[in-house]
Amino acid sequence: MLFITGDDADAQALARALPFRELVFARQKLRLLAELRGLDPKDRLTPLLAALPGDLRLGDVWVEHPDSDAGKPLSGLARSFGNALRPALRKAGLLSAKEDARLPRLHVCFLDGDHALLALTDPHDSAPLPLGIPRLKLLADAPSRSALKLEEAFLALLDAGERERLLRPGMTAADLGAAPGGWTWVLTRQHLRVTSVDNGPLRQHVLDTGLVEHLRADGFRWHPAQPLDWMVCDMVEQPSKVAARMAQWFREGWCRNAVFNLKLPMKKRWQETRLSYGPVRRTGGEAADGPRAPALPRPRGNHGLRHAVDIRLLGARIAPPLPVAGDRPRGKPGPTGTGTPASAAPSPRPRRWTTPPWHRGC
Ligand SMILES: C[S@@+](CC[C@H](N)C(=O)[O-])C[C@H]1O[C@@H](n2cnc3c(N)ncnc32)[C@H](O)[C@@H]1O
Repeated sequence: MLFITGDDADAQALARALPFRELVFARQKLRLLAELRGLDPKDRLTPLLAALPGDLRLGDVWVEHPDSDAGKPLSGLARSFGNALRPALRKAGLLSAKEDARLPRLHVCFLDGDHALLALTDPHDSAPLPLGIPRLKLLADAPSRSALKLEEAFLALLDAGERERLLRPGMTAADLGAAPGGWTWVLTRQHLRVTSVDNGPLRQHVLDTGLVEHLRADGFRWHPAQPLDWMVCDMVEQPSKVAARMAQWFREGWCRNAVFNLKLPMKKRWQETRLSYGPVRRTGGEAADGPRAPALPRPRGNHGLRHAVDIRLLGARIAPPLPVAGDRPRGKPGPTGTGTPASAAPSPRPRRWTTPPWHRGC
C-alpha cells in the first residue's frame, strides 16, 4: 500500500500514526525516496548515488527484490549489487563503518534489472528481516514443522530484551493443542515447565525432557489453577472460537503472556481478523503493548505453491515488566500440582537467541 503525503511533516506524522508493530498484514514499512527507471546495467551505481540526499547518514543497506515468482530471478543481481553498493556508499560518506540501528536503513528494491525503488526505514519501526520473511531452519529433533511458527512468533513479536526477560528457566507455560509437541519442545529448549494439553500423543523425546506434563483434556475447557507465565495455543478451530477463549484467559488472569495462532480463511481475512481479534484486543487492556498481530503468510510446505497460502495470525499478549526486577508472577508448576520435580529438569542454561543470518543484511 502506498500513501502519498503532502510534505515531510505529513510523512512523519503518518509514520508515527502507523507503528509497524501494530500493522497486521504488512511485511515491511518503508518511506519511498525515489523510483529509478531505465538503469544502465553497466552502471547502476551512479544514478542511485545521485538520487540520495548528500546529507544522508545510513546505518545499513539492504538490497531486495519482490517475493514473487517474477522477483526471484533478481536475487543474484540484488546480492552482487549489494556487494558493490556498500563500499560505494561508505566512500561517499553516506554509510556508517559498522551497522548502526540508530541511523536509517536504505532499502534498494529491484523490480527489474533496470528498475529499482529506493526507500528508507527506521530500524526500530520496521521488520528486522530482508523482504520481511523469517528464514528459520527446522532442527532435526523438532517434533513438527509447527515448531517454526512459535520460533517465528518469538522472533517477530518480541524484541531481544523481551526474549531475555520473558523466556527464562523455571517459568511456567501451558500449550493448548500441543500434539505432537513442537511448540512444547520450543518452550522446553528455554527450560520452561510446560503443561501440554491435547488428546493426541506427544513425542517421547519431548516428554523425556522432564519438563512436560501431558494432559489429555479439552483445551477449550481446561485452565490452570494458578496463573502461568505463558500460554501458547495452536488448536485448529474456528478463529473466533479460539480468540474468544484467548480473551477469557486474559480476563481471568490465567497467564501473563501468550502466543496464539488464528488460522484465517483465504477470503475475507481482514473481516475475520477484526471479528476474531476484537475481543482479544479489548481484554489486552492493561498489557503494556496489548496484543500484537502480525500475520505471517507463507506458502504451505516447501513446494513453492503460491496458490496454497496458509494465512495465519500469530497474536501475542505481552505483559508489562513486574515491579520487582527478576521477580516472577505467582505461577506454580502444573495446575494439577503434580509439576515436574526440579531434579528432573536439565541444568537451566537458557538458549541464547542468536541473531539469525537474515538479520545481517544482504
Ligand atoms: C496444528 S496441531 C498442533 C501442533 C503443535 N503446535 C506442534 O507444534 O506440534 C493442532 C492440535 O490441536 C489439537 N486440538 C484441536 N482441538 C483441541 C481441543 N479442543 N483440545 C485440545 N487439543 C485440541 C489437535 O489434537 C492437534 O494435535
